[in-house]
Amino acid sequence: MPEEFILFQPMGRRVAAEENLSLLELAQQNGVGIEATCGGKGRCGNCKVLVQGKVSLLDKEEADSLGPDADKGYRLACQTTALEGASVWVPENSRVHRQVILTTGYEHDMNLDPEICVWELSIPLEDMEKNNQLRELILAQLNRVAQNGSDFQWSLPSALMQGLNERLDKSAGKLSVVTTMSGHCLEISPGWDSSCLGVAVDLGTTTIVVYLMDLKTGRVLSVKAEMNPQVSYGEDVISRIALCRDRPDRLEKLGRVVYECINALAQDACMEAGVHPGRIFEAVVVGNTAMHHIFLQLDPAGLARAPYIPETSDSIEISARSIIPVSASGAQIHMLPVKAGFVGADTVAAVLSLDGDQVTEPTLILDLGTNGEIVLATPQRILCCSCAVGPAFEGGHIKWGMRGAPGAVDQVSVSPDSLEPALRVIGDGPALGICGSGLVSLVSELVKVGVVTASGGFDESRCSTHLRWGTDGLEYLLATKENTGTGQDLVLTHQDLSHLQLAKAAIHAGISLLLEELDITRLEKVLLAGAFGNYLDPVSACGINMFPGVTVENITSVGNAAGAGAITALLSRSQRKRAQTIASRMEYLELASHPKFNEAFVKAMAFSEQGGKT
Ligand code: FES
Repeated sequence: MPEEFILFQPMGRRVAAEENLSLLELAQQNGVGIEATCGGKGRCGNCKVLVQGKVSLLDKEEADSLGPDADKGYRLACQTTALEGASVWVPENSRVHRQVILTTGYEHDMNLDPEICVWELSIPLEDMEKNNQLRELILAQLNRVAQNGSDFQWSLPSALMQGLNERLDKSAGKLSVVTTMSGHCLEISPGWDSSCLGVAVDLGTTTIVVYLMDLKTGRVLSVKAEMNPQVSYGEDVISRIALCRDRPDRLEKLGRVVYECINALAQDACMEAGVHPGRIFEAVVVGNTAMHHIFLQLDPAGLARAPYIPETSDSIEISARSIIPVSASGAQIHMLPVKAGFVGADTVAAVLSLDGDQVTEPTLILDLGTNGEIVLATPQRILCCSCAVGPAFEGGHIKWGMRGAPGAVDQVSVSPDSLEPALRVIGDGPALGICGSGLVSLVSELVKVGVVTASGGFDESRCSTHLRWGTDGLEYLLATKENTGTGQDLVLTHQDLSHLQLAKAAIHAGISLLLEELDITRLEKVLLAGAFGNYLDPVSACGINMFPGVTVENITSVGNAAGAGAITALLSRSQRKRAQTIASRMEYLELASHPKFNEAFVKAMAFSEQGGKT
């Protein structure tokens, strides 16, 4: 049989067809980004593509999921296999969009005290002649410059000594030795090339950020970010965990795509900074518990079933070479500890960078995504919980939802008289959809002008050009098809309202229960971490009653606090130890089995403004 090809458009990507692989799997293998929120289970409908050519038959389940689009030739990429060459059009809504990635973090003052050090030694050549024991000379010099006692045990692998004598001659006795502070020598090179680099990695479910750091000065040399390539295998951690459970080979695959991404980002960062990646000696990686497990190739299945216990929660050190091949041969990776199944090292890192263990007044730290991590810190205790927010804040399950990428509406104001909306669109082009912060902004405005009631429905009595009946019931019209980039009306449906209501109720209920546990009614400080928190307008959040016990002026966005925590741990051993202490001090409250959760959740559904909006 002649070789057949599948042409993915509009990317123009031609790939060899493979029997038994779905169009989604083919796309994933060849770097064609197709949304796959459910991880290829045929449930989310996000991998819809238009196919021309001979493909597998459409079954009833797929036809039901596609609805009227089935008659137009659309198929679910995850359920369709090509039987010969085919052309596959990936529509705008099914493409993985590049998100606006948050890389900034909170500034943090601290002493530089990295785990990796480079020592500049000078071995007198006459000593070499007297005593040919180069190894002993190096160890003695190391003891002198490091001011360790003569009985300090250095570990100097013999592989590092190979051919050193000859090279030492050419460098007039000058040597650079890179070691860990515990005495393990990682590299010896002739001359005084004292550069010593590290990378701090914020491994998020949706994005990966790599900070290239100079370990001698503590300076950020370059920052690179990319969408997490695992997004093509499932949008949230639950779908990726399910994928690993159902297809054991996928654990290795999900790990590999992340390693490749981190390696490429580290290389790009070095190129931008004009430094050699071979001088990267350490990486600190933080991520939620599922990302942490997949990264370490630990079975994540236990995270998705009660009692949601991680396979391991301690900090871990592993060799970096197979994960970041461009790094130095002796480089290592330090993983910060995780706290619970859904409170990961990213939360520990955020608490570290925000000094959550040193607060003087009740402080709430929130990182909201498909999962919401909530930390309530007081001078005495640090409580934390996690709530299943769902994908609404990342645009998932919202009819015209999308991530915070160019084309997304991210802020809305609504005229109280005409109900006419004014939209702000990322990138200033025509609107393609609405992102999480835009959704909160829109609904807050609609609550304010009375189009959405406190209980969460559209008020039918306000029907007008903008509040109208659509195919799925009442809907609010944001932009007509002439004014969008999709050629279709941009609307908010009543199902969208329900998804937002469930998401914000989960957060509200989680905060309420933490407050109740510590008998606190008001919060003096709320720190919003992460991308969604950074772009979320506090007035809008309070306008839909998202946070109990909070006034708008007490809310501050703190950027990528998890990334800042990873940097902190990379630059300082004492901060790294502090992260371990923070993880042990944190007390985890399991909401799924909490006796008052359901009651708190129902109470939290209201869109009424109890949050002290100014
Ligand atoms: S329906 Fe195909 S990935 Fe969800």
